[in-house]
Amino acid sequence: MHIFSFKLEVLMTDIALPAEPYLLSQEDFSNLRGTQYIDFLKYIADHVSPQSYFEIGTETGRSCKQFTCPSVCVDPQFRLTEDIISGKTELHLFQMPSDVFFRSRRLGKIFDEGIDICFLDGMHRCEYLLRDFMNAEKHCHSRSLVLLHDCMPRNQRMALRTHEIGTEEEGEDTRYAWTGDVWRVVPILMKYRPDLKISLIDCPPSGLVAISNLDPESTVIEKNYANIVREMHALSFAASPFETYPHQPTLISSAGLIAKPEDFSLLFNIW
Ligand SMILES: C[S@@+](CC[C@H](N)C(=O)[O-])C[C@H]1O[C@@H](n2cnc3c(N)ncnc32)[C@H](O)[C@@H]1O
Repeated sequence: MHIFSFKLEVLMTDIALPAEPYLLSQEDFSNLRGTQYIDFLKYIADHVSPQSYFEIGTETGRSCKQFTCPSVCVDPQFRLTEDIISGKTELHLFQMPSDVFFRSRRLGKIFDEGIDICFLDGMHRCEYLLRDFMNAEKHCHSRSLVLLHDCMPRNQRMALRTHEIGTEEEGEDTRYAWTGDVWRVVPILMKYRPDLKISLIDCPPSGLVAISNLDPESTVIEKNYANIVREMHALSFAASPFETYPHQPTLISSAGLIAKPEDFSLLFNIW
């Protein structure tokens, strides 16, 4: 394992979380007024200095572009609009669905020491994201950070499995945004994987979920996959995904954390 330039061995369980300035209440979370997710990814790339980046769902390449380390991107239909190499010594693009990519077993050959940062932003349906997480975790190490996009829909329309644009009354802020039902993965991981450290970050337009303390040996989801997917589909979204969580996750202000980067390692088990 070769993650990051820092060698400080800090165990989350030994340290009480500081109360300020970046912990939020659930009310603060209703509008997601933090740092745009792309800018927050750039902050992570700059602050954490990962040695490897893995991304599912690349589209134009805006997210991948923020990272300068060796990277692997998977998307069945790339729509690259600019240079996303941005100083990387290696950039591997796989134009195929993520399930096909994982079957090819290429990731372990490229990143034989595991992935430091993983961004999951592919198909907007919960069973796909659950599989992407399950398959990506096999390539993580205990100090990897996995980020899930779009798991904080702001209303029921955004969270539909089919892509529908909102009415004018909804407002320009969210009218064109669509997250699908990937929000369902978060309560399921909280229930079935209490060993994971799950935090929500207030990045507009639809939140980032940060997961650390990953376990590449875990088989809990794989062994119970069919039942878990059934249970996941039975979850109902009322006013917000918070109502489906078995417990309150750590809620983080992105701007607050950017202002206090030295506390990053207290919030996520990454170095
Ligand atoms: C929201 S876009 C990604 C945006 C990008 N990460 C960013 O931040 O700019 C979602 C992408 O997921 C891709 N996608 C859809 N189904 C997929 C699958 N089964 N496996 C991998 N990617 C998929 C789509 O082609 C699309 O480009």
